[in-house]
Amino acid sequence: AGIDQLTSLVNGLTLGAVTEKYPQAHPEINPLDFYRAHLSNVLAGISGVDAQIVYPAINWTTGLDKGDFVLAVPALRLKGQKPDALASKWAEEFPQDDALFDKPTTSGPFMSFFVKGAPLSKSLIPMIRSLGEEYGRNRFNGLRDPKDPSQGKKRIVIVEFSSPNVAKPFHAGHLRSTIIGSFLANLYEGSGWDVIRMNYLGDWGKQYGLLALAYEKYGNEEALKKDPIDHLFKLYVQINGEMTAEKEAIEAQKKEGKDVTELEANSLDEQARRYFKRMTDRDPEVLKQWQTFRDLSIERYKKTYARLNITFDKYSGESQVSEEAMAKLAVEMEEKKISRVDNGAVLVDFTQLLPGKEGKRLGVAVIRKRDGTALYLTRDVCELLSRYETYNYDKMIYVVASAQDLHLKQLFEIVKLLGYKDIADRCQHINFGLVLGMSTRKGTVKFLDDILRDCADHMHETMKKNKEKYAQVENPEATADILGISSVMVQDMSGKRINNYTFNMDAMTSFEGDTGPYLQYAHSRLCSIKRRANLTDEELQSADLSLLTEQHAVNVVRMLSQYPDTVQNTLKTLEPTTVLTYLFKMSHAVSSSYDHLQVVGSEKELMKARMALYDAARIVLANGMKLLGLTPLERM
Ligand code: ARG
Repeated sequence: AGIDQLTSLVNGLTLGAVTEKYPQAHPEINPLDFYRAHLSNVLAGISGVDAQIVYPAINWTTGLDKGDFVLAVPALRLKGQKPDALASKWAEEFPQDDALFDKPTTSGPFMSFFVKGAPLSKSLIPMIRSLGEEYGRNRFNGLRDPKDPSQGKKRIVIVEFSSPNVAKPFHAGHLRSTIIGSFLANLYEGSGWDVIRMNYLGDWGKQYGLLALAYEKYGNEEALKKDPIDHLFKLYVQINGEMTAEKEAIEAQKKEGKDVTELEANSLDEQARRYFKRMTDRDPEVLKQWQTFRDLSIERYKKTYARLNITFDKYSGESQVSEEAMAKLAVEMEEKKISRVDNGAVLVDFTQLLPGKEGKRLGVAVIRKRDGTALYLTRDVCELLSRYETYNYDKMIYVVASAQDLHLKQLFEIVKLLGYKDIADRCQHINFGLVLGMSTRKGTVKFLDDILRDCADHMHETMKKNKEKYAQVENPEATADILGISSVMVQDMSGKRINNYTFNMDAMTSFEGDTGPYLQYAHSRLCSIKRRANLTDEELQSADLSLLTEQHAVNVVRMLSQYPDTVQNTLKTLEPTTVLTYLFKMSHAVSSSYDHLQVVGSEKELMKARMALYDAARIVLANGMKLLGLTPLERM
């Protein structure tokens, strides 16, 4: 629906004609592609430049006041002609009576194009309302062969994110990974990819031998079942304390010249090592115990992720990498002369393998310790290759803090050195900076649940400050919970991923400024207008959209038209802020229009047209919020 409004206005430009000439265009889901095609045709006619060259040179603007599109004439690379003069000449020759555009304006070598309001409103609003959740999605992006959709094979992407460590705190790095990773998964899904959401738990290593010992000593089955994450963490803290004390005591005896051989042989550290050895030897008894810890922890994690609308397709983890795979890898690395033995340990010396700076930067990595145990990096190499065997992914994204930049570089480089460049090239590290000053009321230990609960509590208090409004909220607790979560997420996604930011409870829970609560307010206000207008779907469908003549109305429509392009651009930036910035701009355009475009209280036909506009805005805002992983509130 909708797009036929445009094709009927522009002679001879059918959808088929557009997509045949411009294969990258999808006018049936992105009307601006139709505008670009038409504009390219017109400009090609005036300038004599090939339309295929013009099309990709037509860009977005930084704001509506600068037009809907801009063309930088130098981008066409025409020899021997002054761009400024060309811009003026072409603007002059641009048809006065073009169906879609006003006459362009120029500034130096730049031509700005403004769309006419009525054709855009008439085509876009029905299109958004009929596409609904699909508006902004582009299923063609994810096809292995986009030129031939009938082939229909989807590309596969694994997004690995969150990946906390069992029995250890869920820290800010995991929080960011969860937020950003879930967003990326949604983004690829909306672009037609087959997405596998994967959680790679830190659930293996000597420290888990120690944890099992602690459970043998102090464990409580009931407490474990009730809150495994909390119980295991407490055990872990306790046993670690004991181990440190023990180490100090042994050190002290050593200083006094005493023989500590026996003490050391029976130490917690040594017991943990032996226990972990049984784990790696796949001793069924100890593995069963470990499996219980793991399963219960995952059940608990799942509940928390559900609050964030996240479900994982796969809980992988360091424990899932087999010793056989690592032994095989060791042989392969030795044969391919990537590793060498040094004092019993196995190393990859990048400084020797790679010439110049790159080798220096990557340094030396340990693959196997002297006692034969494998490491984090070793497991990652095996896991990367085995995921390829299992899923045959086209792309794999690791959402991990920039503190692990070196680790992931080493990982990808080893895979390349092994001769699997094609696989390494499919992998990408999406990194992010630190969160500063994050602490909860309970102290510095941070579990995801505590963080979310704390924000919800804070939000609840903020809401109570406005007594009148608060009294009208039906379910204040649940609303505060969603608002709290939105606050954290929006704060996290506001800047570029790589930037550090300071966790600021007051700022993020404020209704003023570009915050989560502001976005939620904007959405629920649109919902409330719709409830109060109380028009049927038929009434909205039959609205006469040519009544939307005010500049405020046209500006809202122009903003709404940019959403598919924004999503498309986000696939390039892979930055949540690209979507978020758009949503704020769009919400500002909507909110500044309210005083000028009354719905309830206006004459019926006008009411219908304006309501259709606001309904389209509501859909776009909800789509964008869901893409970011937020739950749009209908009332608050
Ligand atoms: N569990 C790790 C940590 O907390 C993050 C895992 C990142 N993913 C990976 N494949 N190494 O630091």
